[in-house]
Amino acid sequence: MEKREQLYEGKAKKVFKTDDENLYIVSYKDDATAFNGLKKGSITGKGVVNNRLSNHFMKLLEKEGVPTHYVEELNDRETLVKKVKIVPLEVIVRNIAAGSLSKRLGLPEGTPMKLPVIEYCYKDDELGDPMINEYHIMAMDICTKEELDTIADYALRVNAFLLDYLKDKKIELVDFKIEFGRTSDGTIILADEISPDTCRFWDSDTHEKLDKDRFRRDLGGVEDAYAEVLRRLLGE
Ligand code: TMP
Repeated sequence: MEKREQLYEGKAKKVFKTDDENLYIVSYKDDATAFNGLKKGSITGKGVVNNRLSNHFMKLLEKEGVPTHYVEELNDRETLVKKVKIVPLEVIVRNIAAGSLSKRLGLPEGTPMKLPVIEYCYKDDELGDPMINEYHIMAMDICTKEELDTIADYALRVNAFLLDYLKDKKIELVDFKIEFGRTSDGTIILADEISPDTCRFWDSDTHEKLDKDRFRRDLGGVEDAYAEVLRRLLGE
């Protein structure tokens, strides 16, 4: 597959066209940002870890009946994916209170939720990705009711699968953010990434943070945490 011109550069990835009009190549960077780009840095080896982990999760999720953009891992940092138009929603699922939910609702971090909570944020950097609800999503024509039902169903399936899978690896899935896209024929599929950048992973015994919160909150040991997740999941 020939890599063609760069289409887009995001905070953590670049996207390239290929000689197949239905396929893109994503390239994972070590760059890290937080707080809508206010905090900038780099996490050595992050691109490699996130590429490997995201592909690992996507392959497992396909088997669970969640369609994804994953096609083929090309090398350490690059993956061939199906071309999609991203639905401008950050779909967040939470099992345990943390981060912005803890702040907003005054629930101490670590408080278990009685059932998984789905939240939606409108992907718009200038607005700081504001939280919205189903009514806003349909009123703004971000997607249809049917598409949103599909998205919510997939999000809960991703959660149920990952919760169980990670438990075996001694990792608590606190919360995560996923994104969906539409293929050229309008099918909704899981896109973007699933990685320690986009999930909160806590060690099941010690509750130590094994994710990007180590960078966001200047906790140190960022590279080690990413490497530890890779080791637990892929034995590398
Ligand atoms: P939050 O508690 O800051 O709202 O984050 C919820 C989850 O979403 C957490 O796992 C981190 C992830 N996340 C992203 O992937 N991208 C973002 O821009 C933000 C704010 C959170």
